[in-house]
Amino acid sequence: MRMARDPLGTYGALGRRYGDAVRVPFGVGRALYVLSRPEYAEHVLVANQANYVKAFTYRPLRAVLGEGLLTSEGETWRRHRRVVQPVFAQRHVVGFGPQIVETAAAAVARWPDGVLLDAAGELRRMTLDIVGRALFGSALAGEAERTGRSLELLQRGAVAGTFLPGAAAKRGVYQRVPGLGGALGQLDGLVQRVIKGSSGGELLQLLKERGEFSEAELHDEVLTLLLAGHETTAASLAWTFVLLSRYPAARERLEQEVDEVLGGREPRAEDVDRLPWTKAVLEEAMRIYPPAWTIERDALEEDDIAGVRVPAGSTIAVPPYLLHRNVEVWPNPEGFQPERFMGETERSRYAYLPFGGGRRICVGAGFAMLEAVLVLATVSRTHRLDLAPGIKVPMRAEITLRPAGPVPMRVTRRA
Ligand code: HEM
Repeated sequence: MRMARDPLGTYGALGRRYGDAVRVPFGVGRALYVLSRPEYAEHVLVANQANYVKAFTYRPLRAVLGEGLLTSEGETWRRHRRVVQPVFAQRHVVGFGPQIVETAAAAVARWPDGVLLDAAGELRRMTLDIVGRALFGSALAGEAERTGRSLELLQRGAVAGTFLPGAAAKRGVYQRVPGLGGALGQLDGLVQRVIKGSSGGELLQLLKERGEFSEAELHDEVLTLLLAGHETTAASLAWTFVLLSRYPAARERLEQEVDEVLGGREPRAEDVDRLPWTKAVLEEAMRIYPPAWTIERDALEEDDIAGVRVPAGSTIAVPPYLLHRNVEVWPNPEGFQPERFMGETERSRYAYLPFGGGRRICVGAGFAMLEAVLVLATVSRTHRLDLAPGIKVPMRAEITLRPAGPVPMRVTRRA
């Protein structure tokens, strides 16, 4: 019960009391293992990944997203991944640069000077519009508010549904819950408009033309990419601006870098490698606030996870939220220090997993980093965002870790 009410607080407290491998019994003869060392994550996500499938905790998400990339398994997953992955290959992704910058710059140009805005809402609108335009050829900014509300409701419903045996896996159950049915209907409508009304984003063309997907599969994949493709990026940008507002020296260094590298023009994809501090700021924000705060798997067979024995059927969590706060790897874990991501490092690559790892690693990671760096540079070139005085920004951890409620920030044009 406590875990469902306050997952981050409870995970943190378990770790402080029992260490970085904790067995939490639930139900009859079942247990959740909360493992927060890099070697555990490496074993589960990579070394012995064939022994693991997405955990039962993903069932409510599967009920909503169906058989898209994020929630499918086996042959269906492989087929979808084969079609979608090439669009996100690094050399391909840079081609989305102009659309990303154009969409971000147009949004920023509409911000009135010196006014308090809800930064989380503004960034959600921007990132939904970016995936809509870049991937699907649809302008979606006008859909952001309703989509945001639907996602809030569905995330809450999904968490509540996690421990309902059987029922949690069925879409119909959610359709009948007051509020959730409307939210599902809104998302289905959005997907239909994207599929039918699109002027032909490249990804949508590919999904249609390869002819491998049924109508239902096409629906599920479009829904998956729309949701997975904007909600997490919006959260990571919102946290980044909150942190920059609290750490003025880091922000000044970022503005200086952006000014020097861009010299007054808008950023391009090729600039990203010349903006190391901007990128480090984002990486450090995703360390402290990883939008995908937990990654969970069920073990098919019993296993020995770097010294931790788990029976078949166990559920294993390797939460980035805890991995990113492991003091052995990250001294002063609550401190915002982008220097951690500048230059070479001796850290295990499994100490930092904002995009997961192994074959189920985020297919959109390259797109997300390109997008986030370009948006941060586009905004910072001309504007500053300051958290309204006295405002705390509490976390909400459901499927994603995001600010709870609106984030009032004053937007001012830079001199
Ligand atoms: C900052 C932004 C993002 C973060 C932090 C993030 C994080 C993640 C993580 C941790 C996973 C793995 C989940 C697991 O192993 O259970 C994942 C999977 C996935 N992400 Fe992302 N993601 C981001 C942006 C995106 C974008 C922009 C897209 C698409 C446009 C996207 C699409 C997906 C898909 C389709 C999967 C499932 C991949 C598979 O299982 O084959 N994500 N993401």
